[in-house]
Amino acid sequence: MLSLQRSKFSLPKGITYLNCAYMSPLLKKVEKAGIEGIKGKRNPLHISPKEFFTSGELLRKQFAKLVGTKDPKRIAIVASASYGMANAAHNIKLHSSEKVIVMGEQFPSNYYPWQRLCLDSGARLEVIAPPQTRVNRGKIWNERILDAIDKDTRIVAMGHVHWADGTLYDLKEIRKRTLEVGALLLIDATQSVGALPFNIQSIQPDVLVCAGYKWMMGPYSIGLAYYGPYFDNGIPIEENWINRLNSEDFAGLINYEVAYQPGALRYEVGEHSNFILAPMMLEALQQINEWKPKNIQAYCAKISKKPIELLKDNGFWIEDDKYRASHLFGVRLPEGMDINKVKAKLKKKDISVSYRGDAIRVSPNVYNQEKELMNFAHVLIE
Ligand SMILES: Cc1ncc(COP(=O)(O)O)c(C=O)c1O
Repeated sequence: MLSLQRSKFSLPKGITYLNCAYMSPLLKKVEKAGIEGIKGKRNPLHISPKEFFTSGELLRKQFAKLVGTKDPKRIAIVASASYGMANAAHNIKLHSSEKVIVMGEQFPSNYYPWQRLCLDSGARLEVIAPPQTRVNRGKIWNERILDAIDKDTRIVAMGHVHWADGTLYDLKEIRKRTLEVGALLLIDATQSVGALPFNIQSIQPDVLVCAGYKWMMGPYSIGLAYYGPYFDNGIPIEENWINRLNSEDFAGLINYEVAYQPGALRYEVGEHSNFILAPMMLEALQQINEWKPKNIQAYCAKISKKPIELLKDNGFWIEDDKYRASHLFGVRLPEGMDINKVKAKLKKKDISVSYRGDAIRVSPNVYNQEKELMNFAHVLIE
């Protein structure tokens, strides 16, 4: 079992940061890597052409390890989750008789690409909303998703957890069903990969995209994406020099190449060699691979168990354990309680959470302790 890791971060004393789903705090060593990256450009003499490639390779390997694929060439460095999804959307032609399935109140970066594709093709965008009931909400929501996937379904685009309240989706069953009907499964795992185990070999998604600044503890404006075989011969949204074959040969760059680098490397964002962000992201992923998502998830479950019980005993609603994550969960207030008063009380105590939809989104990580979540619960109850 992991122990408290707060000393690896620079979080000030006295604040309770339960908001990793908003953005993670920086690990001290990630900050250091960024500063080294900045300093490196003082004297560009030491930035050799080889270095345009080295951190990218290491980064892809670390991410491949994190998500359980043996093939780092299927990983692309992207600028954001929306960038990763744009490459996917760019390579799918929909027919007007087909449909795309998304979840209710899905994060916009994984909604707008499909809305656009449907508008342009006349295909249908089907939004699977959660049931109105709080009894078996997660279970029924998952059943609704499975029921909605039919022979007209071309794409299912979703997360592993809902970004606002951590409802857990049964991706194994959903993948099974999509394969039965020949639909693509595209996952935005920005709110899960890093803190919740995910395995490409077992789920076999067609695309998995992750912004890096939340659960992967990286800086802003860098992310990673996996593209499955469906996208092997696709056209990237931008045509940059480094994604073409033999780009390592700087002297020969204007011997224009028809072929791309192998695998998913054609989908990488321009200037992905980013000498500041890439080493930071690498340092962060190395740490997470050392901790391991299953241990992070278990740690979050351990420190949140008692506070959740206390909240439930006092009339707050939180999804059943089986249908929610432990690193990100929504707390819904008892009827009649004023959310603005709750917000003010939490702010006064320097407790940072998010408010998404009708839920208070609580998202702890390894720098938090049970007593912080207990304080949060007591503020809500008092
Ligand atoms: C589920 C999810 N996806 C993606 C993002 C970020 O999207 P992008 O990288 O396109 O800015 C967020 C940010 O809150 C999110 O919650």
